[in-house]
Amino acid sequence: MATLKIAILIGSLRKESLTRKTAAALLAVAPKVLDCSIVEIGDLALYNEDLDSNPPAAWTHFRAQLARCNGVLFLTPEYNRSIPGCLKNALDVGSRPQGKSVFAGKPAGVVSVTPYKLGAFGANHALRQTFVFLDMPVMQQPEAYIAGAADLFDAQGALKSDETRSFFTQFMTSFAHWVGAVARTSQDEEFRAFMRRRAAIANSYVCGDAAPLETILPRTGDGTFFPPNGGSVHGAKEVAARYSADARSFAPGGTSELDVLQSGAVGDIAFWTGFQDAAAHLPGRKETTHMKLRITEVFRFQEGGWKVVHRHADPAAETAPRKSD
Ligand code: FNR
Repeated sequence: MATLKIAILIGSLRKESLTRKTAAALLAVAPKVLDCSIVEIGDLALYNEDLDSNPPAAWTHFRAQLARCNGVLFLTPEYNRSIPGCLKNALDVGSRPQGKSVFAGKPAGVVSVTPYKLGAFGANHALRQTFVFLDMPVMQQPEAYIAGAADLFDAQGALKSDETRSFFTQFMTSFAHWVGAVARTSQDEEFRAFMRRRAAIANSYVCGDAAPLETILPRTGDGTFFPPNGGSVHGAKEVAARYSADARSFAPGGTSELDVLQSGAVGDIAFWTGFQDAAAHLPGRKETTHMKLRITEVFRFQEGGWKVVHRHADPAAETAPRKSD
């Protein structure tokens, strides 16, 4: 599986922070699939909506770092049974301008830390409350309230106890599963939306309009097309030229329905397989030509979107001109 980029936000600004030491210990046992980096929040100016017309460089940099990540792990001390102001400020900065929140939909995890026996529950749950409005799905279990944090580390900052290391390992493994699961769900949703667009593009195509199809073709590189009447075309440019030539044989008024039997997207590769039922008007012919095609299409995510890199279309039933009903 591709690595998952994780932004780590730490709610303490002091050098000897126990929360930062806890972050380092968690990173040391994180599974390889997680590509974690600490995103600093100490130099973010206090959120003021007036500044958003010309945002401070630190805000822009912070938002860009968060926008690139697949998940966010929050580590927070507890201040007065809630989260420190610096962390709340980071949440506010990242959540604006309205409608452009860098947190929306991102899977989250929370670890709260206190040097005392009791504590850390208030901060942990205050943070979880913000996730409701930020629309961040947060991992529920295991919960991590790290008490007695002053006694956890040796002089080099290493964990003293195997029991703590084992819990940290379990926490980070669960977090990796959580982020992976949310990332897959959101990719599935995106791909389903793309497939709805693919069906509309196929409809335009059988009406003689190849322009929408061109938006989902790669400009360069690989490409294969096995058309229903035999033969094959190879290379992205050659395939695009063949599609536009073929579209010219269709007149307006055609229809196309995709009957998707299986489809899926994993990483940067996706596919669908099933049938295409098309009714096309060929110029100069009165009757409609009906085609039922058995289709397999493969897509690659490149140039900012899903691109058709392979199409195989075979006649699924006899294709013959017949009287339109
Ligand atoms: C605290 N501390 C604290 N601890 C706790 O368990 N519950 C609390 O409500 C508070 N409240 C609180 C308020 C303020 C303003 C400060 C400065 C501190 C103590 C806190 O847990 C302790 O200072 C930690 O060491 C802070 O975390 P870092 O900086 O070590 O990561």
